[in-house]
Amino acid sequence: MSEAIDQPGVDEDLASIDVSDPMIFKNDAFRPVFARLRKEAPVHYCRDSPFGPYWSITRFHDIMAVDKNHHDFSSQGGVSIGNRSADFEAPNFISMDPPKHDLQRKAVTGVVAPMNLAKLEPVIRQRAGWILDELPSGESFNWVEHVSIELTTQMLATIFDFPFEQRRKLTDWSDLVTSSVAAGGTVPDEDRREGLMQCLSEFTDLWNERVHWDPKQHNDLITLMANDPATAEMDPMEYLGNLILLIVGGNDTTRNSISGGVLGLNLYPEEYQKLNANPGLVPSMIPEIIRWQTPLTHMRRIAKRDVSFQGQSIKAGDKVLMWYLSGNRDEEVIDNPNAFIIDRPNARHHLSFGFGIHRCMGNRLAEMQLRVLWEEIIKRFERVEVVGEPVRVASNFVRGISDLPVRLHRRKARTG
Ligand code: HEM
Repeated sequence: MSEAIDQPGVDEDLASIDVSDPMIFKNDAFRPVFARLRKEAPVHYCRDSPFGPYWSITRFHDIMAVDKNHHDFSSQGGVSIGNRSADFEAPNFISMDPPKHDLQRKAVTGVVAPMNLAKLEPVIRQRAGWILDELPSGESFNWVEHVSIELTTQMLATIFDFPFEQRRKLTDWSDLVTSSVAAGGTVPDEDRREGLMQCLSEFTDLWNERVHWDPKQHNDLITLMANDPATAEMDPMEYLGNLILLIVGGNDTTRNSISGGVLGLNLYPEEYQKLNANPGLVPSMIPEIIRWQTPLTHMRRIAKRDVSFQGQSIKAGDKVLMWYLSGNRDEEVIDNPNAFIIDRPNARHHLSFGFGIHRCMGNRLAEMQLRVLWEEIIKRFERVEVVGEPVRVASNFVRGISDLPVRLHRRKARTG
């Protein structure tokens, strides 16, 4: 297996390049097109796409500058290119500007406070161990299904304190959100709407129960929202919007980092050797996995006023996409950026969690979960071998893997 780094260049006219095509990501064909944009048109205007016209920001430092500038670039109304609002309005705090954003974010950050993470760590470790100990021996299976989805879903069920045995519903709802036809998926809007209203109904029952709970005793997301003045009066659709944010925010991202790590180590076997020789490298490998995978390809903003940026005139109302996936491959900032290097110096210097006021709220939780998982994997397996081609998701937003066939090589029991 090898990675498609040496893909042919892009002959297209610069003006007609449209990086919103989900097939670019399904076919893992993003490298040459983003390399060309970074070089020749780092602030690029696409006049015509299925999502309308939009700007692409593709260099590391430009992305950081836009992300940190919420005065000129608004998140109001949605953060992916495919967001539409007319038929399904479910506002949430990632799609808001200050001051409301700040207040709602603050209402739920307790769930990822260091003290809570310290409490969660042994729970996640124990569950990761159970998942790994149940995996099939001697036969190939889909790592995504058995490990990435399962572990992530368990973590989500824990931070929502959602009925544990029904946790796969969280996966299904998250998949519904990200599978709109607009983003390259296949689920018709009516079916998505129906599924998400069911989600709202089940979470409303939980809210009605927890509104009487004491947030000092219960640190789950629903109790926190039900008891904070910034979120206690949300109307049902805003509650649904924030649920969707918290479910999707933690789900696809962590899931695909778990899968991406296995893929990276298999594409770069010398890195796997390094890891086996020195398991102490796990903490530095985790940010490298998150950079290399870049689970969310972009975030979108809308210009609030006319802005001159890197010689281009961005007009008020224009859509601006910050392509994290491109910035994380910016050769001017990151040495040998396409390679997966588990002891990369300064590995945390990446864009995958964004910057500024919307910087990922769950970044420490995600890192902790991945670290614990890899510590438990290394104890048990000498190698998680990828035995077939990965299948990637057709989405311009989530950089996802749906199938990753693997076979396990257990460590020989130590004697003496
Ligand atoms: C590797 C895993 C993850 C990645 C790559 C990731 C990525 C991101 C990105 C790119 C943003 C937007 C940043 C910006 O606009 O500047 C974001 C926001 C957010 N993420 Fe994550 N995320 C991950 C895991 C999680 C987890 C586990 C949670 C669960 C609590 C979570 C919850 C959120 C929330 C609530 C926001 C909105 C923050 C705001 O608007 O203030 N994320 N994430």
